Amino acid sequence: MLMDLCELSPSYVRSIAPYQPGKPISELARELGLKEEGIIKLASNENPRGIGPRTRAAIEASIADIARYPDGNGFELKQALAKRYSVDMGGIVLGNGSNDVLELVALAFLGPGRAGVYSQHAFAVYPLATQARGARSIVVPAKAYAHDLDAMAKAIDDETYVAWLANPNNPTGTFARGEEIEAFLRKVPERVIVVLDEAYNEYLTQDLRADSVKWLKRHPNLVITRTFSKAYGLAGLRVGYALAHPTVADVMNRVRQPFNVNSMALAAATAALGDMEFVARSYADNLQGMKQLEEGARSLKLEFIPSHGNFITIRVAQGGKSAADVYKRLLKRSVIVRPIAGYGLPEHLRVTVGTAAENEKFLSALAASLKE
Ligand SMILES: Cc1ncc(COP(=O)(O)O)c(C=O)c1O
Repeated sequence: MLMDLCELSPSYVRSIAPYQPGKPISELARELGLKEEGIIKLASNENPRGIGPRTRAAIEASIADIARYPDGNGFELKQALAKRYSVDMGGIVLGNGSNDVLELVALAFLGPGRAGVYSQHAFAVYPLATQARGARSIVVPAKAYAHDLDAMAKAIDDETYVAWLANPNNPTGTFARGEEIEAFLRKVPERVIVVLDEAYNEYLTQDLRADSVKWLKRHPNLVITRTFSKAYGLAGLRVGYALAHPTVADVMNRVRQPFNVNSMALAAATAALGDMEFVARSYADNLQGMKQLEEGARSLKLEFIPSHGNFITIRVAQGGKSAADVYKRLLKRSVIVRPIAGYGLPEHLRVTVGTAAENEKFLSALAASLKE
């Protein structure tokens, strides 16, 4: 009899629930026989603005060298990041998206007999990365959908080596102020690596933005992660980074693939980092689009979780009903959003802020789906 090959992997790997990505436009077109051009995808928190001309030019220029391996140390991008944040290049780790960098933290600091702590409703990669290393997950109940930082600090035990914080969090869009994060850092034993995942940092209003990079000097156990996938518009190229103490960065760099960021991504990210005008426009568009979605939800008398990201989580079902039906009805109307039952939010759908026209199309499709 054929062996059950799945049984060969450790039980902690077998028990991992696979990540559920947003449905690709091409897949929906195939499944429902729809035209791709008519479909809008507001399911993966991508930038509806696309990329700027400088970034496009850098990508095109990078084709000339595509037969060569990339610079495994990402010198130019690290140099630009070091200058931007006034940090040493030795304290930067580049990744194939910030997802890769999160995995590197788990690879470097977690394993069997160790634990990672994160909040209920936190970004899905934290449980995935923790479990894949055979480490124990400590899941702390959320408070009004947000991380309960006091409870998270209390939940840390002798085996805890990583605390995962998403600020703002996906999919709830909730946010903790700088003072709260600093208070958490002061409480946590130095042995615990605190991952401060700031994937949506560029969407925060100025008054809420804390200078988290400054905390690295006082807290060598802090690892800040950021990405080019959101406000910089480079989700498809996969590039993100961590800012950390050089010793921590060194350990993370030891466990990464030697060429984990491709040359096109390196060139694009370096150019995109210099195009602050593009980021400023993306930010302004997002504020506007967020207002449009909030007003739309209000006029449909739907609750939503006030969000600090480029997405909003709306409650479209109540009283034991699931949001899955509304999700399916939206698909039939060529609108892809994200069901988040896997995050413990079965009555909500997460919607990425799109262009004004996309937001409008979503809102009218939602109104029709709710009536159906
Ligand atoms: C909170 C958070 N962190 C990290 C990521 C990973 O993004 P990327 O790997 O594209 O940098 C995401 C993506 O949606 C996210 O929502």
